[in-house]
Amino acid sequence: SQVAAASGHTVVLVDQSDEILKKSTKGIEESLKRVTKKKFADKPEAGAEFIEKTLKNLTTSTDAVAVVHSTDLVIEAIVENLEVKNELFKTLDKFAPERTIFASNTSSLQITQMANSTTRQDRFGGLHFFNPVPMMKLVEVIKTPMTSQKTFESLLDFSKAVGKSPVSCKDTPGFIVNRLLVPYMMEAVRLFERGDASKEDIDVAMKLGAGYPMGPFELLDYVGLDTSKYIIDGWHSLEPNNPLFAPSPLLNKLVEEKKLGKKTGEGFYKYK
Ligand code: 3HC
Repeated sequence: SQVAAASGHTVVLVDQSDEILKKSTKGIEESLKRVTKKKFADKPEAGAEFIEKTLKNLTTSTDAVAVVHSTDLVIEAIVENLEVKNELFKTLDKFAPERTIFASNTSSLQITQMANSTTRQDRFGGLHFFNPVPMMKLVEVIKTPMTSQKTFESLLDFSKAVGKSPVSCKDTPGFIVNRLLVPYMMEAVRLFERGDASKEDIDVAMKLGAGYPMGPFELLDYVGLDTSKYIIDGWHSLEPNNPLFAPSPLLNKLVEEKKLGKKTGEGFYKYK
């Protein structure tokens, strides 16, 4: 929502309660200040104007049905549960105009299955952004066998219009980045579980030895352990014999204890 509003698009951010929306808006304001500090380092007035303009482009609502009638593009980023996503898309499909394109920001679920819950399979694709979205330049644009070329090109154009660099991928589990990143992070957890190295040393090793900005445990905490577990559990059910997709007892235990990473104050590490 932030990057779309900052690039001049009219955005309605929809969530379940006013309380969540208040928290989200506050997060956006804080992030915008960070972006502005760098972008307008020696022009504070232009920076303040940029923040004001961006926030003007952004409104919030708790009623997706009420706002969908005037949207060109819906980007869904709700819980990673196919049934819940399908239910939402099925409802929005009834109220959205013909022209409206639907896209999911899913990390690991099949776009095709979501498209099939609607009557607009040709106007349905994937738009997968990366945390933290204001900083990460990539968007994966996913084309299912039913996505029309026009829709695909619109999604590429939109990605560029919000200042990102799109890559395209078929509707395959994890697309490009997560298909490589998630097994790597799970291998790090397994290395730690076997007692072969400490999590701190694994993080240092990957930062200093491979030039990654964060080690795998820092990144797992940053992405959210619940999200990581959703992804790996989903793939494990699709391919139970693939050792790269094997569940981790330690990850499962932390999620059970509600230690979900940075957002809850504790995951593999503790945060103040
Ligand atoms: N909003 C705006 N600006 C932000 C920000 C945010 N949310 N988070 C960080 N920044 C800015 C900071 O203000 C800082 O700006 P500056 O250069 O002007 O000081 C800059 O980013 C660097 O931040 P920090 O100095 O705090 O810390 P780092 O140098 O470590 O950078 C990072 C932070 C950009 C998050 C970097 O650590 C990084 O790239 N980490 C890896 C992130 C990654 O791999 N993301 C992908 C995760 S997978 C995913 O999202 C897919 C999903 O499906 C699971």
